[in-house]
Amino acid sequence: MDFSDAHTDIVSTVVSEEEIAKGLARMARAIEADLADKTPLLVGVLKGAIMVMADLARELRIPVEMDWMAVSSYGRSTKSSGVVRILKDLDSSLEGRHVLIVEDIVDSGLTLSWLLENFESRGAASIRVASLLRKPDAMAVEVPIDYLGFDIPNEFVVGFGLDFAERYRNLKGIGVLNPEVYRDEA
Ligand code: IMP
Repeated sequence: MDFSDAHTDIVSTVVSEEEIAKGLARMARAIEADLADKTPLLVGVLKGAIMVMADLARELRIPVEMDWMAVSSYGRSTKSSGVVRILKDLDSSLEGRHVLIVEDIVDSGLTLSWLLENFESRGAASIRVASLLRKPDAMAVEVPIDYLGFDIPNEFVVGFGLDFAERYRNLKGIGVLNPEVYRDEA
């Protein structure tokens, strides 16, 4: 049974569990080709990127290290506040490292462009970006995504790490959340 049938809050599937697995495998092959001899530091952006990080990292057939960063996100709203705040910083130094930022979704691109600027100032040897999803607005700003899973429509989606008010992260696929769920809160 498709997860959208199982969950009344999800109105349609945007990327299925099978498609996610194929997309991550495709991204992993490209990452391996670029970073095989570099032992990249994968930096996951909490909390949305947990599933992407877990599956992408296990798909990679090269040595990697992992670290995590938490930045402020939408909270209970579905619109970006425009304010990026570090909630948890990296444990590792970026000096001389080949960094791969692992993102769940790039929407306005605000978070990513802020992260890129911040990481550049820490002396990384190179910085690349992998994101499972990209929304149309991201194409309007200068946000380079080196490894992209899927372009998706401009709708609020949940699942595979993406939440609304901390819920739905555990869904195996990605789907459109019924606007009824956030109508009174957005
Ligand atoms: P951006 O800064 O607008 O590119 O988006 C940053 C963050 O917003 C992402 O890492 C997600 O946590 C969150 N976000 C953006 N779009 C969605 C969505 O459709 N569902 C859930 N979270 C989203």
